[in-house]
Amino acid sequence: MELKEVIGKRRTIRDFQSKEISQDIIRYSIENAFKAPTYNHLRDWDFIIVNSLEAKLQLIESENLEKDIDIKELETLFENEDIVKKEMYLDAIPKQKRMILNAPIVVIVVFKPKIRVEEAKTVYDLNCLASVWCCIENFLLSLAEHDVYGVTFIPQNINKTKDKLKIPVDLEIAAIIPIGYKADDAKILKQKTINIPERIHFNKWD
Ligand SMILES: Cc1cc2nc3c(=O)[nH]c(=O)nc-3n(C[C@H](O)[C@H](O)[C@H](O)COP(=O)(O)O)c2cc1C
Repeated sequence: MELKEVIGKRRTIRDFQSKEISQDIIRYSIENAFKAPTYNHLRDWDFIIVNSLEAKLQLIESENLEKDIDIKELETLFENEDIVKKEMYLDAIPKQKRMILNAPIVVIVVFKPKIRVEEAKTVYDLNCLASVWCCIENFLLSLAEHDVYGVTFIPQNINKTKDKLKIPVDLEIAAIIPIGYKADDAKILKQKTINIPERIHFNKWD
């Protein structure tokens, strides 16, 4: 498949079929993930594959996702927001728990921070985070090439989740990624239209 086609195909999906994903696709996508650029040449990344209901329920509990969301409250919260952004949040927020439960696999991407995240002061200090996101994009593109999609959920309660998953204290979670085949009625949200020429600058900001 052409690169442009795969890049266009990758979209965030939060509604999954229960169909299993082959280990070959997962292995291929992780191998490609490890080809991403890395700030220190070390590729300090690990993938935890969550496929048991018990582990998914633990994730939901540690991330405080049990409660159902009041859609009216959400509408009020986002009423003055950009319309494309508002539509995304109104669709996404109520699905956070369900997408973890329904995805056949949830992948947790772990990285080694250069310094503790809460002590970072410069972009340079965050090179480890930048690198792991290059890795995540390779992973998502490689899945999309095989009609498998994901959604990058960022943990809010990272220490509790790390503790539940027995992740060493000196490592961090970059993203929790439910992955699967699209449900027949999966919502694909409108991407914001960007005027690309306006975003390209030559020699200085003009
Ligand atoms: C750093 C980052 C954090 C994100 N966090 C969440 C999240 O917590 N929950 C969620 O449902 N989607 C999350 N997303 C997915 C975005 O909502 C999605 O990428 C965006 O709406 C654009 O849609 P697209 O990926 O289909 O182009 C996140 C994406 C990124 C890159």
